Amino acid sequence: MKQIDLLLTGIGSLYTPEGTQPRYGEEMGRIRETTGAAVAIEQGRIALAGKEDEVIATLAGIHIAETIDAGGRMVTPGLVDPHTHLVHAGSREHELAMKRSGVPYLDILAQGGGILSTVKSTRTASEQELYDKAGRSLDEMLLQGVTTIEAKSGYGLSLETELKQLRVSRRLHDTHPVDVVSTFMGAHAVPEEYKGRSDDFVDLVIRDMLPAVAEEGLAEFCDVFCEEGVFNVEQSRRILEEGKRFGLQPKIHADEIVPLGGSDLAGEVGAVSAEHLLTTTDQGLSSLAAGNVVPVLLPGTSFNLGLSHHARARDMIDKFRLPVALSTDYNPGSCPTESIQLIIMLASLNLKMTPEEILTACTLNAAAAIGRAGDIGSIEPGKRADLTIFDAPNLAYLPYHFGINHTFGVIKNGTPVAWNRTLTEKGGIAR
Ligand code: NIG
Ligand code: FE
Repeated sequence: MKQIDLLLTGIGSLYTPEGTQPRYGEEMGRIRETTGAAVAIEQGRIALAGKEDEVIATLAGIHIAETIDAGGRMVTPGLVDPHTHLVHAGSREHELAMKRSGVPYLDILAQGGGILSTVKSTRTASEQELYDKAGRSLDEMLLQGVTTIEAKSGYGLSLETELKQLRVSRRLHDTHPVDVVSTFMGAHAVPEEYKGRSDDFVDLVIRDMLPAVAEEGLAEFCDVFCEEGVFNVEQSRRILEEGKRFGLQPKIHADEIVPLGGSDLAGEVGAVSAEHLLTTTDQGLSSLAAGNVVPVLLPGTSFNLGLSHHARARDMIDKFRLPVALSTDYNPGSCPTESIQLIIMLASLNLKMTPEEILTACTLNAAAAIGRAGDIGSIEPGKRADLTIFDAPNLAYLPYHFGINHTFGVIKNGTPVAWNRTLTEKGGIAR
């Protein structure tokens, strides 16, 4: 240690999972709690974390450039949101009445609405318009305590418009404090011009889109909406296998509405994660466990679709020892919210996860779902100094006191980007 750039003192309680691998099953409940803690940061990374008096004693003789007092507040790793459809244009409140009257999600899509409605607006929007809108959502996520997200394409569904979305994600990653990890999801829906010809559209994704995305280095992951009336298991397999040839790691929207077998496929193709999983069978869960796939649960989506069933988080954790992660699924249709804290509440209410499991699912396991458990997701020496400071007395308070934002401040790569509930001059987009 040459010098400490930032010392965060006065932490009432520091909560963190530990390690550089996802936490499985009952390990998800193991959270290290340190009261009266401090974190020392050097060059954007954590140098030391522990009891304040011990940290200060270890730092004797080392120059400390800046000290900030957390005022007795609670600190966790910066939250990670591993499944969002961040970049899109328009909104779909015009479908609200239809949804509330009971028209199913897939029926709205089949009528040319839903995802296809957002495709229309996204195709005509300029890169700048997409950037500005997504940037505002990213600010919102940051103010919720989120420091890294994943963002999927899939509202262009043509070569140029998919590339446009992914370029916006990359520009946001480069200019906004929140890290944006990109996923190519050209197979999010079958566009109007390919209606009834989904195999031809799959050919287009494979022949034209995958090579172009890989050539420009625009994505790390490839995702498919494997669902009845969208892409079947065989089509999904083709896309994910071809994606691997182009260096894109597979992810899959699986068993959201109909249990088609997307989870089995996730295990077979070695997917990094499988998402939704509202209707997954025991066989599907076994396949996820055998394939080391991270299940990403999206309780905001089942809530907002008004479903009475939820992902089987307790079985996943208790019976199948899976490393469950949580995410907003932020998108303009099934889950229009940037609020990870709403998801924390719903994970407690509907998934029956404990506050400790929820923290692991929103940090280390969420990081694992985007291949970053070695770099973020816990407060330990060597990891990126991404920290969220909450105005909350303890961990259980987050799912307990719901509907408000508990985040007081956020430190990203060692820099305070939000403080006293507002973005600092280092927060937001560099405009
Ligand atoms: O993850 N299910 C598919 N995709 C999104 C919804 C996209 C939309 O409705 O615009 C999801 O829920
Ligand atoms: Fe999604």
